[in-house]
Amino acid sequence: METIWCSVLMFLLLIIRKNGLCQNFAESVNTRYDVESNEPQFITKGHLYRAVVGDTIVLPCKVKNLGSYILLWRRSAAVLTAANFMVTRDVRLTMVDGFNLQISSVKISDAGDYVCQIGGQEPKDQIHTLEILVPPTIRTIPDHGLVSAKQGSTVHLECKTSGNPVPMIHWFRKHSSMPLGEGALLTLEQVGRQHAGTYQCKAENGVRDAVYGEIILKVLSPPDITVEKAWVHAAEGCDVELICTLHSDANSDLIWYQNSFMLEPTDRRSIFTKGNKNFLRIQHFNKNDFGNYSCVADNSLGRTKKYIEVSGRPGPTVFLSTQYSNHLDRYNLTFKIESLSELDEIKLLYRKLMMNETYQKPGKWDELILYPSVLRYDSRHFVMSYIIRQLEHNSVYEVMVQAKNRYGWNEVSDIHQFHTRNYGYRFEDNDLGISSISLSSKAINIEPLTSRHFLLIFGILLHVIIKA
Ligand SMILES: *[C@@H]1O[C@H](CO)[C@@H](O)[C@H](O)[C@H]1NC(C)=O
Ligand SMILES: *[C@@H]1O[C@H](CO)[C@@H](O)[C@H](O)[C@H]1NC(C)=O
Ligand SMILES: *[C@@H]1O[C@H](CO)[C@@H](O)[C@H](O)[C@H]1NC(C)=O
Repeated sequence: METIWCSVLMFLLLIIRKNGLCQNFAESVNTRYDVESNEPQFITKGHLYRAVVGDTIVLPCKVKNLGSYILLWRRSAAVLTAANFMVTRDVRLTMVDGFNLQISSVKISDAGDYVCQIGGQEPKDQIHTLEILVPPTIRTIPDHGLVSAKQGSTVHLECKTSGNPVPMIHWFRKHSSMPLGEGALLTLEQVGRQHAGTYQCKAENGVRDAVYGEIILKVLSPPDITVEKAWVHAAEGCDVELICTLHSDANSDLIWYQNSFMLEPTDRRSIFTKGNKNFLRIQHFNKNDFGNYSCVADNSLGRTKKYIEVSGRPGPTVFLSTQYSNHLDRYNLTFKIESLSELDEIKLLYRKLMMNETYQKPGKWDELILYPSVLRYDSRHFVMSYIIRQLEHNSVYEVMVQAKNRYGWNEVSDIHQFHTRNYGYRFEDNDLGISSISLSSKAINIEPLTSRHFLLIFGILLHVIIKA
């Protein structure tokens, strides 16, 4: 109350001065000085000040020749201080070092213009503008930061921010510095399993540190199954293990089928999992166990099925021999075949490729049936060598192999190409001398220097000497 009465008093004083009642007093003070220089003057200038919420700021106002004039701090119409009196009651406001206005614990609402005024006939103002900076805050939408999306759909991840100045938002994958986007929304189209993970939105406005929000994106998709081998070789009496690896977001169980019959564990058959690997182990394989197996998994988004064929027939042929023969007329063909049972018969088909720089035409297939005295390589494989004879030199041949055991023929192998040697040329290991295939390259025979050559050279020399 006292301060208010005081300020009222001061105003009365000001009004009186304005009306000239104090003129005599003022003149008497000023008589000995130049009028101009004795007028009160601001030493400080009006400025834009910035303060972060919670900080303390001092708005300066220094005046020379204040004399008996009264200095006011105003904010809009509200008078904050008059001379040394605090007019507005706010404990955060104090006067420091004369008439500087100190505001502590600044609030957003403190932003605005502050006027330091010298009362007089023509009041003089000095205006400071105070801007309040607010560090960024961030909030994910939804607050819990968990977003689920179906595979193939479009997803919007959102973060809301506040602060002064308005913060910028940037998006990242967690543990990655590569920016994915800017602004409150991050749009991901055609989301797949690879989009799942933690995303970060980063808000910064230069005031204090950047802040982060996190959103975990879950991508819902039908189960994904991979099979290590889609074709498994077996024989009666042996043990067989089939493996399907299941990747699924929702927990889904994997079910085994043989042809269309669902499989349950029996004394010979066990079904178990290790991590995401699912095993079907069959002991003492019998004739009825051969066939088409499948593993199937379901979740809310669909069903996935993968097949594994278990067969007694020989596995695919793998050629071991190099592409180049060291002989003019024969080739040592060596290959490997997976089979637990003995091989009964091998079919070998080969043909010459008519070929020069501009022309390529296959010849007719020659067929050889071999009843092999093959070498067993290990318990699961056979390795066989066969010398194909009566070939033409410097030619390209193609060969295919098919093998049979008691369960039947395997698939015909891929085509294997080889080259026979040319006269005077020996293929080195790893030599890819393509030019040697060309039919145009001919062997050159160099005759030794005979007495006939010698006489010819002697005659020419003699001829030259006589002429000279
Ligand atoms: C197994 O059966 C399925 C469905 O009939 C078929 O698509 C698949 O080709 C078969 N696999 C083999 C190796 O026979
Ligand atoms: C054919 O090649 C295989 C493998 O390099 C070798 O073991 C075999 O002895 C060769 N056969 C002949 C007749 O050179
Ligand atoms: C390539 O072979 C074809 C067919 O034998 C023949 O007509 C053609 O002239 C040959 N070209 C060259 C460059 O030897």
